[in-house]
Amino acid sequence: AHRLSRRDALRTGTGLLGVAGAMALTARTARAEPWKWSPADSVVGVGGGADPMTIYDPDADSVLADAIQHADVPQINRLLATWVYNDQALPAGLPKGLADFIEDARRLPSWADQGRLASSFEFTKKRGTYLGVLYAFASGMMSTVIPHEARAVYYSRGGSHLKERIAKTAKFGYDIGAVNAYGDGGEMIVTCVKTRIIHASVRHLLPQSPHWPADVTPISQDDLMVTWHSLATTIMRTLTAWKLPIPAAESDGYLHSWQLAAHLLGIRDEYIPSTWDQANAQAAQQLDPILAPTAEGHDLADQLLNLGADLDLTLLSRGILGAFTRFIMGDKVADWLTIPREPVWSPLLEVAWGPYVAVREGVLAVAPVVDAPYWMFDEFLRQFVLWYMSELRMPLSIEIPLTNR
Ligand code: HEM
Repeated sequence: AHRLSRRDALRTGTGLLGVAGAMALTARTARAEPWKWSPADSVVGVGGGADPMTIYDPDADSVLADAIQHADVPQINRLLATWVYNDQALPAGLPKGLADFIEDARRLPSWADQGRLASSFEFTKKRGTYLGVLYAFASGMMSTVIPHEARAVYYSRGGSHLKERIAKTAKFGYDIGAVNAYGDGGEMIVTCVKTRIIHASVRHLLPQSPHWPADVTPISQDDLMVTWHSLATTIMRTLTAWKLPIPAAESDGYLHSWQLAAHLLGIRDEYIPSTWDQANAQAAQQLDPILAPTAEGHDLADQLLNLGADLDLTLLSRGILGAFTRFIMGDKVADWLTIPREPVWSPLLEVAWGPYVAVREGVLAVAPVVDAPYWMFDEFLRQFVLWYMSELRMPLSIEIPLTNR
C-alpha cells in the first residue's frame, strides 16, 4: 500500500478534505501494549476486563440509528430542546424506543454519593476561575492532539461550526460545576444523556462521510475515556503542578462529579477509575502515549486560538492564548501545533505564574516578582471569565445532527 504521510497530505494543496486516504491508513484499531488496566480499580470493582477499544455503546447506537433512519429528527430535536432539567419529565411525542432509552439512561447509578457531590461544588466555587480557562486551553487544546477525536470533530458537522461547538462544550463544563448539578433543578443529567445521544448519532453518520474510512466506527469506550482524561485527569494534574492547596475531600468530590458524567455518557462502570491514583495509572496507559499531531487537529487548534478575535478583550489575543497554551501543554505539543513562543508572555508565565497562584491562593503573603504580572494575570483570568459567560448566554441546545461536515 502507499504510505501517505501527513506532510504529503498537506502538500497536495487540495485542503484537508482531500486527505481522507491519510486517515484511513492511520486510524488506530489496535494497541501497542495489550490492555491491562484492571476493573478491580474501577468504581464498581468488577468487570469483564475487555479492551475498551473493542466496545461502543450498543443500547444507544441501535436506538439512534433507528431514529435517524425512520423518525422525524428535526421534530425530535424540537421536543428535546424543551427537556432541560434533571427532574423534568420527558416531553410527549418522542419515538418510544428513544423515550425508553432516555428513561433508563437518565438514572443515577447506585454509587452516586450526594456528600461527595457537595464537596465537588465547594471545589468549583473556589476554583471556578481556573476551570474555564483550563477546560479551554488544557482540555480543549489537548483534544486537538488526540487523533481520533480531532478527526471525528473535524469531519462531523461540529467541525464546520466550531464556535457553536465550543460554546456547547463550555456549557458541559459549566453544568458539571453548578450547584445541584445532578440534583433537582440541575441540568447535568440532561446534558450528559443528550451528549450520549449525539455520540451515538455520530457513530451512525460519520462512517457515511466520504472523508471517513467506512470500516472504522468512531467513539469507542476507549476514545471516551481518553477524552475523559483530557478533561478531569488533565485538569487535576495541572492544578497539582500549580501547587494549589486542595482539600482531599474537594479533590475527591471533583473526581466524583466526573465519574458520574462518565456513567451518564454511557461509559461502562468497569472503565471508570475509583480514585485519582487509579485515574493517573489509567491515563498513563490510555492518554499519554496516543497524543500526536494531525492536519485536522492543527486546523482546529488554529481556530481555537481565534476565540477572542472578534471581542474587545485585549488579553485574549492569539499571541497571549498561544503563550498560555505553550505554558500549560509544554513545548512538544505547542511545536506540533506550530504555536510560537510569545516574547513577553511566555517568559512572564514561566517566571511568575507559580508565585502568582501562590499569592492568589494565600499560600504566599508577598512575592515581589509578581507585583506587575499579578495585575496582568488577574485581568487575563477576568477577561476569560467574561468570554466564558458571554458564550453561555447564547441559547444552546445540544441537537442530533443530520449531516456530516
Ligand atoms: C459532541 C462532550 C467524547 C466526538 C459532543 C457534545 C458534547 C460533547 C457536550 C455536544 C456538542 C454539540 O452538540 O456541538 C464530550 C465529552 C466526552 C466526549 C464530555 C468525553 C468525556 C468524545 C469523543 C469523541 C467525540 C471521544 C471522538 C472520538 C464528538 C463529535 C460530536 C460530539 C464528533 C458531534 C459534533 C457535531 O457534529 O456537532 N461531545 N465528548 N466526543 N463529540 Fe463529544
